[in-house]
Amino acid sequence: SQPLRLGIAGLGTVGIGVVRIIRQHAAMLKARTGREIVISAVCARDPDKDRGVSLSSYAWETDATALATRDDVDVFVELIGGHEGIAKDAVEAALAAGKDVVTANKALLAIHGQALAEAAEAAGRALRYEAAVAGGIPVIKALTEGLAGNDITRVVGVMNGSCNYILTRMESAGLSYEEVFAEADGLGYLEADPQLDVGGIDAAHKLAILSSIAFGTRVDFDGIALEGIDRVSIEDIHAAADMDYKIKLLGVAQKTGRGLEQRMQPCLVPDTSPLGQLDGGTNMVLLEGDAVGQIVLRGPGAGEGPTASAVLADICDIARGLRGPVFGVPADTLTASVPASAQLP
Ligand code: NAP
Ligand code: HSE
Repeated sequence: SQPLRLGIAGLGTVGIGVVRIIRQHAAMLKARTGREIVISAVCARDPDKDRGVSLSSYAWETDATALATRDDVDVFVELIGGHEGIAKDAVEAALAAGKDVVTANKALLAIHGQALAEAAEAAGRALRYEAAVAGGIPVIKALTEGLAGNDITRVVGVMNGSCNYILTRMESAGLSYEEVFAEADGLGYLEADPQLDVGGIDAAHKLAILSSIAFGTRVDFDGIALEGIDRVSIEDIHAAADMDYKIKLLGVAQKTGRGLEQRMQPCLVPDTSPLGQLDGGTNMVLLEGDAVGQIVLRGPGAGEGPTASAVLADICDIARGLRGPVFGVPADTLTASVPASAQLP
């Protein structure tokens, strides 16, 4: 069979991780998928930057849209980020040009997922995004494939490692929010715009995507009752500890009699529970299905290796010929969730 030819846009933490895995595991990937997976062309802003891996055997583009529509690209791999601008333009151009798309971009999917899903399905192309939620944890596949026989009743999770790091560190070191925020920022743990993390926005992007898959609803980021961790004080942490609880930024999406309700807020969890025991940058997602009961997935939610691992899972699926609806059910059948003002019982 023909090689599967990739165009990779974005050669930062995740993009370089993807390049490394493809080079390191070329034979293994071919054995697993039946197709050779090759990189035709790559794209980033600065062609002269030393990225720690040789890129000289790939064609170089400085325009991601040009990369996305090249004749020698079958799959456009978008690893730039941002929900407007070049990432969105290039993904749209790729789908319009008949390319399959893989992305790690949760912001793009949370805001424009519905329209992109419709475009991908109309074009008969794949739009895959395992890396967009919970990094290395294969939670998208768990929902769309492993739990396909279940009516999903609830999704709960810690989906932002930076917030979990901050809350854990406040608790273990007795430091204030401001002190730990400065420390985390200095260590490079926070997004370029830290409000995406501490405001709960990044985690809410992920919850919106998971909800859509779990409950067959439109991606409804604006429908999430959202509160970040930026008002959690060390006194709150101590008061929780006195009651044997911890504070976690918890995403919850569940079916109620009135429809789907979603929230992303700091919550008290018993300190001996699996969520209470979740320290540092780790993520955890609990999925409840009517047949399976509850399952817990735990693992690294970010970083080069874990995130690239998830991107490769999508690339391998496309190499195997898997397509199907973007959010598990066709985009035109997705129903709306209940309004943002709804409170969980
Ligand atoms: P990053 O390290 O900041 O890398 C971004 C890359 O995009 C850089 O190579 C940059 O080029 C390139 N780029 C930026 N603007 C561009 C433009 N206009 N045209 C072409 N290339 C452009 O980001 P990252 O951490 O790898 O994240 C990539 C995506 O994965 C994001 O959507 C992010 O949310 C998602 N994600 C990341 C993680 C993680 O742990 N990092 C986890 C899950 C999901 P230069 O290098 O030349 O500046
Ligand atoms: N800022 C995100 C986090 C990166 O801390 O979880 C991975 O999506």
